[in-house]
Amino acid sequence: MSADLKVVSYFFDDEGGRELAAILSRVEGLSLTSTKVVSEEQLSTLGKEELPDVVFFELDGHAERHIQDLELLLKEHRGSVSVYVTYKEVALDLVRRMMRIGVMDIFPQPLQTQELMSAMAHAVSAKRERIKASQGAKGGVTAFIDAKGGVGSTTLAVNVAHVLAQKHKAEVLLIDFDLQFGDVAISLDLHPRSTVLDALRQPDRVDTVLLSALITKHDSGLDILPSPGNLTSLDELMADPVRKILQAAVQDYEFVILDLPRFFNAGVIEALKFSDPVMLVCQNSLETIRNAKVILDNLSLIGVSLSAVELINNRAMAKSSSVTIDKLKSTLGKERIHRVRNDYAAAVSAQDQGLPVASVDKKSDMAKDVLALAEYILHAHRGDNKKKQGFFARLFK
Ligand SMILES: Nc1ncnc2c1ncn2[C@@H]1O[C@H](COP(=O)(O)OP(=O)(O)OP(=O)(O)O)[C@@H](O)[C@H]1O
Ligand SMILES: [Mg+2]
Repeated sequence: MSADLKVVSYFFDDEGGRELAAILSRVEGLSLTSTKVVSEEQLSTLGKEELPDVVFFELDGHAERHIQDLELLLKEHRGSVSVYVTYKEVALDLVRRMMRIGVMDIFPQPLQTQELMSAMAHAVSAKRERIKASQGAKGGVTAFIDAKGGVGSTTLAVNVAHVLAQKHKAEVLLIDFDLQFGDVAISLDLHPRSTVLDALRQPDRVDTVLLSALITKHDSGLDILPSPGNLTSLDELMADPVRKILQAAVQDYEFVILDLPRFFNAGVIEALKFSDPVMLVCQNSLETIRNAKVILDNLSLIGVSLSAVELINNRAMAKSSSVTIDKLKSTLGKERIHRVRNDYAAAVSAQDQGLPVASVDKKSDMAKDVLALAEYILHAHRGDNKKKQGFFARLFK
């Protein structure tokens, strides 16, 4: 990640762009990569090219289509792109609508140099902070959260973490943030003495040393920070301690896997913001899809980038129900959905014995699908998850 903030601007005429460029050239740490004249076609490619950090957009009160494009951009990429709007003349309700959809700030024209420079300087220092936080970290965070209770997110988090640790010999920490009903430890037949609550309650002491004192080890090599699994108040799950735990965890572990409760408080939101990918676990039922849609429609409003969210269709049936995988894709607007087949025998046997599914029946449908999911996460993190090449490209490579 370069420290320079990449800015793209859209104005109705060259003059506006030149004026902005003159002001931005005085802010250190910015690079104005392109100034475009607004046209329908350019706007629709917003977000499809490499994303800039900042988009500057000149608004025209009548261009509903442009406003919708901006809304779409913010819905998909809020958290990674900051949008600023400038205008010569627009109605007040449009200004309000811009604030509502998540535009960072609005600048009437003529542009005020001082005001604009301080907004940009602030954006540059926020990016530097983000870079600093990720430096020295070897790990990435993957979250599992269920669209509806009991769809299998804990099972998948545990089994994926197990495959990464055992088969791939990766350093993996599985954190159970489901404070009240977390059952990660039980599902692996572990009897922990410390829990994640011990870290949440003393955020100022959280570092890699404290985490290593709190973890429980599984025979496979997997490390676990279990939940207390009692009626601890979810208020204990606050943003600051969660951030400190994750920042410490990624220093020591290549993979930090989270089992999250489906409860969107400050701590869970912080964990989601840290995670890429966020695995939203669904089943083929109308109720699950409805919940998943509510979650997907609202995540960007709480600052979680939708581009990090991926869907898993767990307990997928061979003879599909009325809700097919294609229906899931179209309703939830995702091109790809990971699939883990329904495998009652393997799931129950693993659960009864307190073992990961790969240790119970390596050849079962469930073990095979979990293996594929773990490998996807492994490659995505290590950066070799290249787009599948076409047949001819592979042939002549
Ligand atoms: N692919 C699968 N095939 C068959 N059974 C499964 C599969 N995945 C999970 N299960 C079973 O579904 C049940 C619920 O799973 P799990 O506890 O992981 O769900 P959850 O989403 O974490 O639930 P909660 O909302 O309580 O946290 C368990 O009995 C588990 O064994
Ligand atoms: Mg669970």
